Amino acid sequence: MEKLVQNSEFVFRRAIRDDVAVVNDLCRGEYGENYPYPIAPNGMDHVNGVVAQNRDGEVVGFARRASFHGHPETEEFGGLVVKPECRRHGAARYLIDHHLAGAREAGKVMVSEPVCYDARGASQKLHDAKGFRVQGIEPAKYPELKPETLGRQPESVTFVMRRFEGEIWNNRRIHLPPRYSDLPARLGRTETGGHSMRSTFPGVVYHNPCRGKEIVGAEFVDVPVNWPEARRTIDDLIRQGWRFSCFLPGLGLTHSGEKFDFIRLYRHNQPIDFGLIHVLPSLDWLKDFMVQDA
Ligand SMILES: CC(C)(COP(=O)(O)OP(=O)(O)OC[C@H]1O[C@@H](n2cnc3c(N)ncnc32)[C@H](O)[C@@H]1OP(=O)(O)O)[C@@H](O)C(=O)NCCC(=O)NCCS
Repeated sequence: MEKLVQNSEFVFRRAIRDDVAVVNDLCRGEYGENYPYPIAPNGMDHVNGVVAQNRDGEVVGFARRASFHGHPETEEFGGLVVKPECRRHGAARYLIDHHLAGAREAGKVMVSEPVCYDARGASQKLHDAKGFRVQGIEPAKYPELKPETLGRQPESVTFVMRRFEGEIWNNRRIHLPPRYSDLPARLGRTETGGHSMRSTFPGVVYHNPCRGKEIVGAEFVDVPVNWPEARRTIDDLIRQGWRFSCFLPGLGLTHSGEKFDFIRLYRHNQPIDFGLIHVLPSLDWLKDFMVQDA
């Protein structure tokens, strides 16, 4: 089996089909017995998975990188989990570094969704330390995780991006209703003004909610924001109960190959308890905004 690297505590190697069961067990141990998103038996074939083994050869950690559906120039880092008794020994740091290097080599942007149920913010701190920039919060996205902590509320995640070259935002003009117009700058967009698009408004992209056995997660819709049509479209969606979740800067691509930015809106069939959504102190302002906006 291909060994990638070894340190005094762990051996890191590529994940294979035989690892699926133990990786799913690690997830069940962390997220609950009814964990609704196990890796399928052939699931390792489609992702770039890496496992950490301890000195006894036991698999104690995992993370993968996979294509980010609908966004050809982007990869998603995910599935990160380390067995509780092996934590705080640098396994996650190695796993994220390895996948970041792979994405950089492949010329991709990397996105990730650090969890919000963990009040210590371990995953959010790790991503922050590795240069990921927060683009917003996706409330109530993944049902039936950590029921002892979250009850019936689906797990929320932050949405973060790591670009290796250039700015996350490029200098494209943005058309947002006043309610959301200062959010890009507060989330790190430095340009103002910007250039117009050559192509026509590409239309919105709707995402089906994640479904657990009994509970359904929030719905999400992505609206391209670089065309004047964006404002009316977003206002109409707000009237239908949709609210700001996050931005996906530069992740849109028109048929003619022009990049553009999306705003992602969410809608949920239950009131959301934001007290169950933990973010780093630097993002408290956004959580407060979303509570007011809800
Ligand atoms: C998050 C997790 C993967 C970290 O694994 P780990 O091997 O213990 O992490 P590392 O030892 O490599 O630590 C790397 C960094 O993560 C952050 N971190 C890890 N554990 C932390 C904790 N308990 N509290 C705060 N920050 C923490 C720190 O920034 C740390 O860097 P530092 O040691 O320089 O402070 C692990 O705690 C875990 O499996 N948690 C449950 C599942 C989860 O949250 N997965 C991520 C889903 S997005």
